[in-house]
Amino acid sequence: MPQITIDGKRVECKDRQMILQACLDAGHPLPHYCYHPGLSIPASCRICLVEVEGLPKLVPSCQTPVRDGMVVRSNSPKAIANQKQVMEYLLINHPLDCPVCDQAGECLLQDYSYEYGRSQSRFEEDKHKKPKKDVGLNVLLYNDRCIMCTRCVRFTREVSGQSELFVEGRGHKEEISIFPGKPLDNKLSGNVVDLCPVGALLDKDFLFKQRVWLLKETASISPSDSGGENIWIHHNEGVVYRIKPRFNAEVNQWWISDDTRYAFKPIHDENRLTSARRTQYGSQIETQFLHALDEAVAGLKAAAKEGGPGSLFAMLSPMMACEEAYLLGKFIRSLDPKATLILGPAPKTETNEVFKNSMNGKTTFTIQAEKVPNAKGVQRVIDLLGGPKADFASSMELKNFKGGWIVGGYLSSWVPSDAKLQPPAWGKTFKVVQDILPSSLAEKADIVLPAASWAEKDGTWENYAGKIQSFAAAVPPPEGARREGDVYYKLLGRTGFYVAADVRAEMGEPFASVAAAPDRASVTEPTMEFVEL
Ligand code: SF4
Ligand code: FES
Repeated sequence: MPQITIDGKRVECKDRQMILQACLDAGHPLPHYCYHPGLSIPASCRICLVEVEGLPKLVPSCQTPVRDGMVVRSNSPKAIANQKQVMEYLLINHPLDCPVCDQAGECLLQDYSYEYGRSQSRFEEDKHKKPKKDVGLNVLLYNDRCIMCTRCVRFTREVSGQSELFVEGRGHKEEISIFPGKPLDNKLSGNVVDLCPVGALLDKDFLFKQRVWLLKETASISPSDSGGENIWIHHNEGVVYRIKPRFNAEVNQWWISDDTRYAFKPIHDENRLTSARRTQYGSQIETQFLHALDEAVAGLKAAAKEGGPGSLFAMLSPMMACEEAYLLGKFIRSLDPKATLILGPAPKTETNEVFKNSMNGKTTFTIQAEKVPNAKGVQRVIDLLGGPKADFASSMELKNFKGGWIVGGYLSSWVPSDAKLQPPAWGKTFKVVQDILPSSLAEKADIVLPAASWAEKDGTWENYAGKIQSFAAAVPPPEGARREGDVYYKLLGRTGFYVAADVRAEMGEPFASVAAAPDRASVTEPTMEFVEL
């Protein structure tokens, strides 16, 4: 393993690693704009130049491989002079509109200006102004803030593969642009906003909504499909403002799909169910949550008594956490040991959406066709609990139910509108519906319980490949709604509140050994291998 010395410090490196990445891995900061470990290396911004003993001129640390015994200096007079010159050059035409820029607080131009720049500008001429551009469905381009690092252009060539962005013009007239009639509207487009080191590419949805230093981060998993993309939920005072990718080398690397990016919208849907309801004389009326819960238990007990063994069912949604599905399964079996556990509908598109590097044809990202996060995990729980079971399609054949508990939690309308596609169990049985949004099924339920959305609770989901990952509650459920885990704890007569890790320990392997979702302080971005693109 090669070793180098950087500013007098010994650093262990990987074979063929670049100086910059070796330093970053070792916690030694070096300024960089155009370099990103998931993209090719153009070495164009020149801020990362360092002095290497024995070489006559400064070299780009992002593009120079380490050699055992190399002596590198990023704080020599030559290297410092270069950093100051690059910063001065980049700020010549910059509008300096930090107070109204969304990127302020997480902008590399601000940070490096403070750490490596000059405190004064010597530029007295008029600044060259470049236009703002609407480049796609979700993305705005403030061209005069752009530093031409070309991360965004390389992303659309090397990851999303659609090449919508390109560099137009030359010299100080260079601009990022799109081709006429070909906007940036692929399903990975939002990643260019995350990649942009300054405030040039902005998310239209987040624009002017919140200052970033007010946001808190919670680790979670994408609810939009079975891919299990790792994410950070950014929120403040109970409101989710945006979703950002969380690096996971095995699952999503640095990227997320736009479906994942905007999957937080239903959390703050104005139609969220927030009050418990029960049916009285043929119409639904609002009631206290605990009262509704008592009536739900009484109704299910009466149904089990009337119908005998096998007359109850629970429809476990693939939006539920594995722990919640386990607890509800336990509860329904405590009322009727022969109760049927049904896996709720798992909508799918025809095929996975596959993205390829347009230069070499390698697959870079896949959006899974299954549009729920945990069908595999809930099925695993159903198998773990044993006894009668069915999937949604085969539940069409099951007619002998007298009562059941149905869980939703989907991001959009999920109840099939065609009555022929609805299981007979949804007919004249005693129904308890626990959901986040209204539906024709909730309207017909005997008891409606407002539930928590995916970002409002802890748990684990299993992705399409069998990887079980945990997620944490970012915000509280709206007033009136209750987390499913807490409800099932109460129904099972357990004291205290639901603790996902305790339930996992009870479920045994493979759940017991799944770690809790990390917090930001415990996450160090894993070291990168040399990425051959
Ligand atoms: S828009 Fe952002 S990512 Fe694209 S070249 Fe300019 S600074 Fe770089
Ligand atoms: S980061 Fe090395 S030249 Fe841009």
